[in-house]
Amino acid sequence: MYTEKVMDHFQNPRNVGEIDNASGVGTVGNAKCGDIMRMYLDIDDNGVIRDCKFKTFGCGAAVATSSMATELVIGKTIQEALQVTNKAVMEALDGLPPVKVHCSLLAEEAIHAALWDYAQKNGIQIEGLEKPKSDIHEDEEQEEEY
Ligand code: FES
Repeated sequence: MYTEKVMDHFQNPRNVGEIDNASGVGTVGNAKCGDIMRMYLDIDDNGVIRDCKFKTFGCGAAVATSSMATELVIGKTIQEALQVTNKAVMEALDGLPPVKVHCSLLAEEAIHAALWDYAQKNGIQIEGLEKPKSDIHEDEEQEEEY
């Protein structure tokens, strides 16, 4: 059911963990399955992503897609990182079963949420980046329920 690359990234996920004093942190959740993903970005003064780490409380496909997504964004500029869509991640993994496509959205949304956080912290606007819908920072969770 899963490609070799998906199995590899699921069994040996790259860049798992946290980044202290990250430039941006994004946490997103999938309402359907309740899975959660958090992405940390370290961005240098030239807007290049030096490092990216993730934590996922989610299914195997979510682990594999976030692992691949971190590899795809490291070394990229912010604008290039915005092109790392869930489609691009799935292609890099040689595909996902149709029922697991929604899992790959978490990775894309988490990157966007982390970039949004970075932009907020630095008072800048990133062209083409919209406020993440499913960002679920703990302190905002309450608001979203009402
Ligand atoms: Fe929840 Fe895959 S089933 S992210």
